[in-house]
Amino acid sequence: MYKNIFIIKSKIYFFSNFITDLNSYNYIKSRVLGKYGFLNIFIKKICFLKKKFLKELKFLNELKIESLNYFKEQLLKLNHNKSINNSYLKDLDISLPGRFIKIGKKNIISEFFERVSFFFLVLGFDFVFGPEIENELYCFDYLNFPKNHPARDMQDTFYLDNFNMLRTHTTSVQARLLEKKKFPLKCVTYGKVYRYEKENNNHQSMFFQYEMFWVDKKICFNDLLSMIKVFLIFIFNDYIEVRIVPKYYPYTFFSLGIQIKCSLCLDGCSFCNFSKWVTIAGAGQIHENILKNFSYDINKVSGLAFGFGVDRLIAKMYKISDIKYLYS
Ligand code: DAH
Repeated sequence: MYKNIFIIKSKIYFFSNFITDLNSYNYIKSRVLGKYGFLNIFIKKICFLKKKFLKELKFLNELKIESLNYFKEQLLKLNHNKSINNSYLKDLDISLPGRFIKIGKKNIISEFFERVSFFFLVLGFDFVFGPEIENELYCFDYLNFPKNHPARDMQDTFYLDNFNMLRTHTTSVQARLLEKKKFPLKCVTYGKVYRYEKENNNHQSMFFQYEMFWVDKKICFNDLLSMIKVFLIFIFNDYIEVRIVPKYYPYTFFSLGIQIKCSLCLDGCSFCNFSKWVTIAGAGQIHENILKNFSYDINKVSGLAFGFGVDRLIAKMYKISDIKYLYS
């Protein structure tokens, strides 16, 4: 009996969900409380039952009163909503321009820059930017590239004339900063760089680099390694396989390359050049010659630098098979 009353009660509340206007209100009220509504039919059925059930009739009457009140409330609500809607329509000026709706989202590259910049901001780095049209001095000469050194061919360059070019790396900003003899120097920079490359899914003629320079007293190679380690943990938020390989860069000594396991394959693909590893960054201790050239005392200070290709790192993070998709 109690079970039945409970079922009826939940049925009433369930049906009342469909009340949207006066018509639906009338219809549902008649289905519940009308002469042939299920509440009355149930009461009639009970009257034929044994006497002991008749005692429970009072619960049904209570339920009837409760549902009557409930429907009254619903009616009040309905009228209230209607008056709100009407006043809203009165105030509505359809000739006004609509509200601006934001569509789309930030490009992953911009999102990545914000995330990485937060990391370096917390570590106390400043942000500096350099020009995209550079000259030979900052791109090569000040960075310890000897004249006619094959390293100048290493990065095939878009020359604008004999002297100016589109920068081939953000390391040119390092030369500009050292020239100002800032000390201690703790900066990061990022932006577009250009190389005359044969384009494939891992190489583009225009791509982004992010670079860090740190010149200070009492800093050593170990600081660089731990920073790279923490950086990768921060970026990937996960366990990744990393390996550090010796590399050659004219502007650092010792120089190293940071490689991560290719996320797209297990045993070689065109993205990782069938080597299973992708180089994402170069790093090292700033070459003594450079510090000397800008009259830093190499017995007292040392410099660390670390630069990475943003596109490859993003490709690894989001498992994107071709870095071209980041721009197209
Ligand atoms: N400039 C290098 C490149 O374009 C990356 C790099 C290597 C940056 C070593 C550095 C560094 O600051 O120390 O591939």
